[in-house]
Amino acid sequence: MKIKKVKLYKTVYAPEELPQTPYKEVAFVGRSNVGKSSLLNTLVNNYKIAKVSSEPGKTRSVNFYLINDKFFMVDLPGYGFAKVPFKEQKRWRDLIEKYLKERDTLKGVFLLVDSKVGPTEKDKQMKDWLDFFGIPYVVVATKVDKLKSSEKQKLKRKVEEGLKDKNLEIIPFSSKTREGRVEVLKRIERLLEA
Ligand code: GTP
Ligand code: MG
Repeated sequence: MKIKKVKLYKTVYAPEELPQTPYKEVAFVGRSNVGKSSLLNTLVNNYKIAKVSSEPGKTRSVNFYLINDKFFMVDLPGYGFAKVPFKEQKRWRDLIEKYLKERDTLKGVFLLVDSKVGPTEKDKQMKDWLDFFGIPYVVVATKVDKLKSSEKQKLKRKVEEGLKDKNLEIIPFSSKTREGRVEVLKRIERLLEA
């Protein structure tokens, strides 16, 4: 897939603002700071659409990016960042849950886990949730440029153990080296066809 056109279509802060659209979409979820916005920027060839920050909790809204006038890539706020006030965390969680549960146009989710940190309890909860609602998903192990080659060899097992599932589709990814970019784009195409 060639990315020819990228446009921020809508920024949503509350469930009732979620747009009704004719387009199919894929979404990106994961812990705060896991690299969702960086992955999006890498996918679209660094148009710098999504704000990247070393400070967790940067993305506070659900952002709909219209790609090639054809489908959406949806950047969701990261979960599990303790420094964000509880009330705000709850608001995000409600928004993410409502989004994942009720979105007919959602064809698949990319669940990002930090390959250095490994899956967290919150990642496992999100995975169980996607299973429960029958939403197709692919795990993306981010920041693999940080791994030594010995760690990289163990990556698949580490992710499988952390998420307690041996039948996962896992794509190693780095926004630094762009490893995995083509694989993710191919996977998006297939999800949108289904
Ligand atoms: P929230 O918006 O808070 O949910 O975070 P996010 O998941 O969008 O993370 P973001 O893309 O903003 O990246 C967080 C930090 O990780 C930034 O300092 C990035 O530069 C860094 N980072 C992201 N991807 C990579 C990667 O592939 N390799 C390395 N080494 N660092 C990365
Ligand atoms: Mg972000």
